[in-house]
Amino acid sequence: MTAADQKLRAAQRALEDVHDGMRLGLGSGSTSACFVDVLGARVAEGLNVVCVPTSEVIAEQARGLGIPLATLDDLPELDLTVDGADELDSGLALIKGGGGALLREKIVATASKAMMVIADASKHVQTLGQFALPVEVVPFGAEVTFRQLESLARDHGCQGPVTLRMHNGKPFMTDGGHLIYDCAFGEIADPGALGPALNGLPGVVEHGLFLSIATSAIIGTEDGTVILTP
Ligand code: A5P
Repeated sequence: MTAADQKLRAAQRALEDVHDGMRLGLGSGSTSACFVDVLGARVAEGLNVVCVPTSEVIAEQARGLGIPLATLDDLPELDLTVDGADELDSGLALIKGGGGALLREKIVATASKAMMVIADASKHVQTLGQFALPVEVVPFGAEVTFRQLESLARDHGCQGPVTLRMHNGKPFMTDGGHLIYDCAFGEIADPGALGPALNGLPGVVEHGLFLSIATSAIIGTEDGTVILTP
């Protein structure tokens, strides 16, 4: 069974927890795209939901499937956000932002009563950090923020290169017009200390550590699905 099959399994299981009348947050990335596909099929059959997307890409997919969309200004309280993750540990701490949508993903997830993570089995790790932690920064003074970021990381015992994300030979830009530094720390011993410290840097908009936000996770496996709760 491929990772794509496991993502689909997780997405299908997540759909079982979606009910008529729900206000949903839609994550971004390939696993979220699986969820949007299965959700779109249910909407076509008559399921009544309204969704807030976390990226232009996922909004376009949802619109194409006829899923009703709203903004967070229209719907500031959501029932459930379903989203993927780049890594998750057994306590449901996450690294997100591989696709660059981490800021909107975090805003939407924290506006939701519950956040369900859907993932293939490769995403479930013992210690976060093998996946490079994305940190979103404002373009103004980015070099200063980069230096502060490196120094802060070392102070927290995080080694490894911090690199500006590039796309087609140019710095990658998020939907919000920000840059991303990917921090290849290898292991993050204390995410609970690192996360708030990163938020303390003036040029940092947000980082990809999602701590105490996810309320459950559905992992697609060879045999079916496994459900994790914190
Ligand atoms: C998007 O910014 C990310 O947070 C994604 O949710 C995350 O990278 C998972 O993506 P995949 O489902 O494509 O692995």
